Amino acid sequence: MDIRVFDSSDDLAAGAAGFLAGLLSEQPTGFGLAGGSTPQATFRRLVDRDVPWTDVTCWLPDERWVPPEDPEANALMARQELVDRVPVRFLAPDTSLEDPRVAAAAYQADLLDEIGDDPGVVMLGVGTDGHTASLFPGTDALRDEHAGYVANWVPQLDVWRLTATIPLLRRARHIVFVVSGEPKAAVLRRVIVDEEPFPAWLVAERANDVTWLIDREAASGLKVANP
Ligand code: 6PG
Repeated sequence: MDIRVFDSSDDLAAGAAGFLAGLLSEQPTGFGLAGGSTPQATFRRLVDRDVPWTDVTCWLPDERWVPPEDPEANALMARQELVDRVPVRFLAPDTSLEDPRVAAAAYQADLLDEIGDDPGVVMLGVGTDGHTASLFPGTDALRDEHAGYVANWVPQLDVWRLTATIPLLRRARHIVFVVSGEPKAAVLRRVIVDEEPFPAWLVAERANDVTWLIDREAASGLKVANP
């Protein structure tokens, strides 16, 4: 398990941008953009990295079921921080549709057309409950062994989410978890050290290649040396 610890959240963002740029430059391909707040600092630094962006197709491992212009939308954040600032192709689910299940199925078809069976490099975050993408503990999407992208009802949030499934994420060439902050320390220890079956572990345990990029605060429950 490749775990790299950085002294601060800024060092983590810079380190993650460099690591992701290296992977994308080695083999330009699909690039799954994590949602939430942690990725923003990394995306801002990726803009200045030397990446063959015209050969890269960005996509979203998950999206909130909100209108495209909603401040909560991962697509909006990705556009503001990265996609509108580099010459990259970007595929986002159509959340203006009526039915999240229709949107998920359409997006799965688009992904298949555009990046085929290879999700490429996938950046993911981890929630304090051990979720990753929008694979939340106890939700139906965790049990879907056939679809690649589904609508997932999340009762703990009382919302629909769209998410890549475990089978799709496990096909990624590289999965790069980027996790920051003391609130994540406890769950990271339970995932990485205790290997408890949180969604983040269910994705990582059988993935092709996994790297954990974490800052010192988030790593405080682990016993690893700094890089
Ligand atoms: C989302 C993300 C989600 C995120 C974690 C961590 O849509 O919110 O895809 O899986 O990565 O919730 O979020 P933070 O980076 O905001 O802590």
